[in-house]
Amino acid sequence: MAVRTAVIPAAGMGTRFLPATRATPKELLPIYDTPALQFVIDEAIEAGCDRVIVVTSRTKPSIESYVAVAGTDKVAVSVVYQDAPLGLGHAVSCVRQVVGDEPFIVMLPDEIMGDASLTKQLVAQFETTGKSSIGLKRVATAEVSSYGNVKVADYSGGAESAVEVLQVVEKPKPADVVSDIVIIGRYVFAPIVFDKLDQVKPSASSEIQLTDALAMLAGERSLIGIVSEVARYDTGTPMGLLRAVIEIALQRKDIGAPLSAWLREKFSK
Ligand code: G1P
Repeated sequence: MAVRTAVIPAAGMGTRFLPATRATPKELLPIYDTPALQFVIDEAIEAGCDRVIVVTSRTKPSIESYVAVAGTDKVAVSVVYQDAPLGLGHAVSCVRQVVGDEPFIVMLPDEIMGDASLTKQLVAQFETTGKSSIGLKRVATAEVSSYGNVKVADYSGGAESAVEVLQVVEKPKPADVVSDIVIIGRYVFAPIVFDKLDQVKPSASSEIQLTDALAMLAGERSLIGIVSEVARYDTGTPMGLLRAVIEIALQRKDIGAPLSAWLREKFSK
């Protein structure tokens, strides 16, 4: 079945970006002149979606204002509310009624990709195998504990390769790390994931972890990963956002050259 729906979880409080997020949700903080949310909507369209659902909180009305004008002739954009901060898995389960019995993409807006290649590969993988497929990346050992970490079968080391996921551990302690491969914020799910999320027991902090549903799929040999080398900007921290702004602005035709000239001048003194 073709994948035409993208879900963007955007209900978080953005506490790392206080005081800016008192007034502006972090998903609307600008990457030069474009909100992070718009980059992810554009990526969904490029990957073939004509429907985007933003999961947000009633405490962030400006997300709804932005969504109200984000639709185009190519894409319909709407919101679904997550009424309590109960985790990423819970955010995904909030779209069950709206998505219905269809596959869908989940795109975390804290991560901006250099292009839509990974999401397109995940869609193609799902459309070929019918199995849920997740974006993976190799990182330095010291970074693994900040992510969902996976053990995979028969990884040859090549870029852009599809692998079977055998085990998933969310933010493991250094002693529990299972590989140098981590989950990055792009997932394509078969609708069966909603049943798995229903079975997830809340964590100690009452959250429903998406990773627990992934672990169930992996346990049934129903989860594929694609190890990608796509450029990726993590805008989930203030420093990451600043780097993303500079890197993305440097690539723009309108301001890349003057920004580069200014930086050179600044650091040559
Ligand atoms: C979430 C997921 C984690 C994944 C990460 C990617 O964590 O829970 O498995 O590796 O996104 O960015 P978060 O960064 O929201 O804590």
